[in-house]
Amino acid sequence: METPKAVKARDSFTTGLGVIAATLGSAVGLGNIWKFPALTGLNGGAAFIVVYLLSTLMAGLPVMIAELMLGRRSKSDALTTFRVLHPERESWSLIGAAGVLSAFLILAFYTEVAGWVFAYIFKAASGSILSADPKVTSAAFAKLIADPVQSVFWQCVVIAFVGAIIVMGVSKGIEKTTKRLMPVLFLILVMIGVRSLMLPGAAQGLDFLFRPDFSKVTGAVVLTAMGLAFFKLSVGMGTMITYGSYFRNDQNVPMTALRVMLADLTVSILAGVAIFPAVFTFGFKPEAGPSLLFITIPAVFSQMPFGNVFVVLFFVLGAIASTGAMLSIMEVPVAYLHQRFGVSRFNATAATGILLALIGSTAALSNSVLAEFKLFGMTMFDLYDFLTSNLLMPVGGLFICIFVGWVWGEKQVRAALSNDGQLQNGAVIRIFFFIVRYVAPVTIGVILLRGLKII
Ligand code: PFF
Repeated sequence: METPKAVKARDSFTTGLGVIAATLGSAVGLGNIWKFPALTGLNGGAAFIVVYLLSTLMAGLPVMIAELMLGRRSKSDALTTFRVLHPERESWSLIGAAGVLSAFLILAFYTEVAGWVFAYIFKAASGSILSADPKVTSAAFAKLIADPVQSVFWQCVVIAFVGAIIVMGVSKGIEKTTKRLMPVLFLILVMIGVRSLMLPGAAQGLDFLFRPDFSKVTGAVVLTAMGLAFFKLSVGMGTMITYGSYFRNDQNVPMTALRVMLADLTVSILAGVAIFPAVFTFGFKPEAGPSLLFITIPAVFSQMPFGNVFVVLFFVLGAIASTGAMLSIMEVPVAYLHQRFGVSRFNATAATGILLALIGSTAALSNSVLAEFKLFGMTMFDLYDFLTSNLLMPVGGLFICIFVGWVWGEKQVRAALSNDGQLQNGAVIRIFFFIVRYVAPVTIGVILLRGLKII
């Protein structure tokens, strides 16, 4: 296949390690710390992990391989990829367009949570949010989120921070940053995990996280698990297409995807191991969502020796994790504007950042000025989260499977995955093609329809 002209001098990832760091940086994020442990604990422990793993293997991972492969083949952004690979039918690029929309909706709430995390590094360092009394930490958090000025301010700080790295480029910005940050993230996580496991409530915490309870696994829980699988692996919205377009041609795509998925799972489990033993040791309730991070963690950790150091470390961990993820989401619209309209990276990032700050403020203000403004019974913050994880990403993934399995076809997949006949073994390609053609679309379709109570 001919390389499109406009992309000859395209910036891309330079080393194999850089590819892994950036891709893993995208997968690892607030999802590991804020969603995975709490959703697991509340929805049946090991039973939920089994459903999550099955969704990952049958849907998330195949979509990830498909996306990376498409991007690497087209060397284009999420929208242009479909135009380049299937010029006869423009409508396929709607998948990319939906991806750009998802990118804004995810970032709208994600930058807000990241804003709280960034704010908490400073607040924890100054000691202002530390107290063993959850009433105090709860009041401190309520004060932050109910303050429209602070909420919007920290969100804008995060957008500017991520934007500044994006402007530096793919290799000098994204790759360099994630290569430095990912080892630090692992180190901090292991430190906190070990500390937590030494506490007396460790067994109870692990029991909460892992004890299987299949009676909790309903249709809605399965949809949550699949949504989490998509959200965790950053798939179904063109992020991995965009990153795949920066992969070198000799990169083994299925192997990279598998490694990233396993490393991401390890981080999720480590996060659960770091959090729940501490929660149970000090007699707290394991709750889902922001309250776990911003109310329970400061209260729990400040009771341990050197607890304030651990609270700061915990939020540094969150900041690092969220940065890698936000870089990849923001890169979706930036790459599109840059490639499609030839605008500079700076202008593309500035335009994205401004639009994002506008949309994001509706999430940032959903605990204050816009608290009463609800659609489908949800605040804007919750609506963006629900819409993207439980609808847009799985639907995006479904169409990507249909495109690869039924429109593009096995011959193209074989060529795209085999690195011109060098790396890929035939069985891997056949298994992948079978999954992407039959297993993944059926799985996603059924879970979506059941989860949304349509069947
Ligand atoms: N995978 C990230 C997390 O678990 O926090 C979130 C995410 C990143 C979602 C990139 C979507 C995306 F495109």
